[in-house]
Amino acid sequence: MKITVIGTGYVGLVTGACLSEMGNHVVCLDVDARKIEILNAGGIPIHEPGLQELVRRNAAAGRLEFTTDIPRAVAHGTLQFIAVGTPPDEDGSADLQYVTAAARNIGRLMTDHKVIVDKSTVPVGTADKVRAAVADELARRGVDLAFSVASNPEFLKEGAAVEDFMRPDRIIIGTDDERATLLLRALYAPFVRNHDRLLVMDVKSAEFSKYAANAMLATRISFMNELSRLAEALGADIEQVRVGIGSDPRIGTHFLYAGAGYGGSCFPKDVKALARTAAEAGLPSKMMAAVEAVNEEQKLVLVRKIVAQYGEDLSGKTFALWGLAFKPNTDDMREAPSRVIVAELLRRGATLQAYDPVAADEARRVIALDLGDEKPETRDRLRFVSSATAALAQADALVIVTEWKEFRTPDFEALAQALADRRIFDGRNLYNPALVRGFGLDYRSIGR
Ligand code: NAD
Ligand code: UGA
Repeated sequence: MKITVIGTGYVGLVTGACLSEMGNHVVCLDVDARKIEILNAGGIPIHEPGLQELVRRNAAAGRLEFTTDIPRAVAHGTLQFIAVGTPPDEDGSADLQYVTAAARNIGRLMTDHKVIVDKSTVPVGTADKVRAAVADELARRGVDLAFSVASNPEFLKEGAAVEDFMRPDRIIIGTDDERATLLLRALYAPFVRNHDRLLVMDVKSAEFSKYAANAMLATRISFMNELSRLAEALGADIEQVRVGIGSDPRIGTHFLYAGAGYGGSCFPKDVKALARTAAEAGLPSKMMAAVEAVNEEQKLVLVRKIVAQYGEDLSGKTFALWGLAFKPNTDDMREAPSRVIVAELLRRGATLQAYDPVAADEARRVIALDLGDEKPETRDRLRFVSSATAALAQADALVIVTEWKEFRTPDFEALAQALADRRIFDGRNLYNPALVRGFGLDYRSIGR
């Protein structure tokens, strides 16, 4: 099939690459010329396991193209996927300006029937807005062309995006349009071995399912984080509690890890957007407000432990920081808890030696923006280093923020020697406390 993907970010690029892998001819459009330049030069603008090879292979086969040429992109695809960003507006609602702009471009330039597919995460009612924007542009041109609109929310996780797209738990298609249903069923058939994984429903339910899924997952995490604080106060171990409750299939073992708070481009903004939708519907959500509040608090949990140990004034203290990305296997720093931790520790006078296997460049960029108003003296106390070992040099204690694999089995003896205070603050519960303490290290983790 001929497919256009509008927006070549985490979702658009993965969608384009995976669809081209199944033999479709995909044109990926972006307004960011830098991204398209990198892609046309054989690189990829993000870190995502397996994506580079997929892009290279399909681009070489001529099935995957990248362009900033809007007329060309609109002319190409029978299916037009909208995968642009939907960042939070000032009031927390999803900002639909990029979605609307993409829809208007289609309406302005289309010359034959198009199936327009909303892949971005968008509030209930957006398909109607997309339909109205396209119809408005067609009316301006005075042409009468039929088109279809469908919702097809994306459920991939960063760091496992290719795997998730290739082997989805389910694919949701929201439409009452027969042509769109037939085309999307055919397009996704190679991805669903088991056809009951392809769920066709009404548009609003499809749009709502995406927010409901992310809100449910964020709720699990905030709930576990709240329980972890209580476990710690009561002398219980949240890791044992996790196993204890997760073995009940009604609860399940996945996604029950207490930690340093959730981040990323989706949970924070989608929880806010759902709260906003609920308020607008006259049904304010107490749950979403609590999920968000618990998470904001949780991002500070490591800072609080450090302050409890050393006091508010951290000047003269040096901390090694392992991990900056909001989760492993990505260079995405959007809403990463590390950003809050870095700012709070620097503000109290600490010196930081930070290491991340892939997110360092992006971290340098966003943290510089975060610290824009700080004095140079404050900003200069943050140094980025090129290895986990280098971060330990002359450090008093280690702070672990992201659970990259390379942090999982360190040389504890070397850690005990390198860290002046022989102390680890672990925001991801990577180690067995008895093991670490056996090396003479003071080990502070979450909820135990
Ligand atoms: P992103 O910021 O990485 O990419 C969006 C891209 O769209 C950018 O490259 C931007 O330049 C481009 N763009 C904006 N306006 C455009 C236009 N009019 N025409 C062409 N290109 C345009 O965003 P993302 O992380 O890929 O997220 C996209 C959507 O998918 C969001 O709604 C998000 O909530 C949702 N989503 C994201 C993930 C994820 O893991 N990142 C997973 C599922 C769903
Ligand atoms: C999340 C969802 O998992 C995807 O299904 C969804 O498609 C996506 O949002 C989206 O809509 O964009 P993502 O944000 O990429 O994916 O990553 P997750 O693995 O969900 O992690 C999110 C955050 O939760 C991370 O900061 C992670 O550290 C934290 N987390 C995750 C926990 O603290 N505990 C857990 O048990 C799991």
